[in-house]
Amino acid sequence: TVSFRLGIAGLGTVGASVVRMVERRRAALAAAGLDIRVAAVSSRDRSRDRGLDLTDVAWFDDPVALARSGDVDCVVELIGGAEGPAKAVVEAALGVGKPVVTANKALLARHGAALAALAEENGVALAFEAAVAGGIPVIKTLREGLPGNTILRIYGILNGTCNYILSRMEREGLTFEACLKDAQALGYAEADPTFDVEGFDTAHKLALLTSLAFGTAVDADGVSVEGISRVQPLDLRMADELGYRIKLLGVAQAAEAGIEQRVHPTMVPKSSAIAQVMGVTNAVTIDADAVGELTLIGPGAGGEATASAVLADIADVARGIVRATFGIPASAMSASERVEMQRH
Ligand code: NDP
Ligand code: HSE
Repeated sequence: TVSFRLGIAGLGTVGASVVRMVERRRAALAAAGLDIRVAAVSSRDRSRDRGLDLTDVAWFDDPVALARSGDVDCVVELIGGAEGPAKAVVEAALGVGKPVVTANKALLARHGAALAALAEENGVALAFEAAVAGGIPVIKTLREGLPGNTILRIYGILNGTCNYILSRMEREGLTFEACLKDAQALGYAEADPTFDVEGFDTAHKLALLTSLAFGTAVDADGVSVEGISRVQPLDLRMADELGYRIKLLGVAQAAEAGIEQRVHPTMVPKSSAIAQVMGVTNAVTIDADAVGELTLIGPGAGGEATASAVLADIADVARGIVRATFGIPASAMSASERVEMQRH
């Protein structure tokens, strides 16, 4: 049996769910030969009651100290944000040769290439299943499931908050603001919901999918982005009368000039499969030469669904699986690409 001690940095919506899930799944994981437990946690406010049993769990005010602790084998970064403590804790962990599991798409979209190189230099995993499309195992599908294929296009609904807002505005006639408030209360939205509604979160996720699907360096700045904040109830009614729904889509496809990446509200025929995807649900369609079109549909946000994806990575890492972060070795990227990435 492999004994594996986790350090969880961030005890918010996702972090608290991960702590509960590790405890709840202990026996099942042990039966699979994995003795996984939470050894240490870090959050800002120690006094807050999170409904967690943290007896025998070490507390760190400083997540970087947690990353360096000799009692932690793997760091799970669930703080969020492209800079600041999230970046510091991931760099510290990789730098001392510890694997990292993260749900942080903003961080990877900005610094993915440099962090992948750091993971590679230290021979450890940097895993991010939960960073794209919540509970849907799309990263695993792209990394492991399609070696016989050239991917031609990847697109989908990648932000639960936006799909939840558009669905409720359309079905219940509620205002944008009321729907956003509910998405925040349910733990779906980013700490700064501008990332959701202005399309940046979808762009971050798309940039990660593009890198995996096409074997290119992550290029978040190469995504053209328009969000849903200007979609009015009248737009939804007009679309409805014409037989359409409005969805925020992220699309990446091979074009003559390279890989085209875009995020924008899109009219989709009500009869199409993607139009049936409502609420916090996400959908990702992969169009590949051998398998054809493959669509994965499932919960795109929320503590439990996201923790499910985090745990998938934890189990892989505990088994000693170390895959190239973006499917291709970071060292295979050209120097100019890596410098370019670090500048972003
Ligand atoms: P929350 O805002 O709910 O939680 C963030 C946590 O980080 C809080 O517990 C906060 O502490 C802690 N934190 C903030 N600053 C520090 C610091 N300096 N040191 C230690 N801890 C700190 O975020 P979520 O759980 O929603 O999201 C976490 C990550 O998961 C983000 O990267 C997000 O993008 C990603 N994600 C979220 C999903 C979701 O559905 N919510 C789905 C998929 C990915 P305190 O509680 O003490 O204030
Ligand atoms: N805020 C994100 C969303 C969380 O609503 O999709 C999941 O990545």
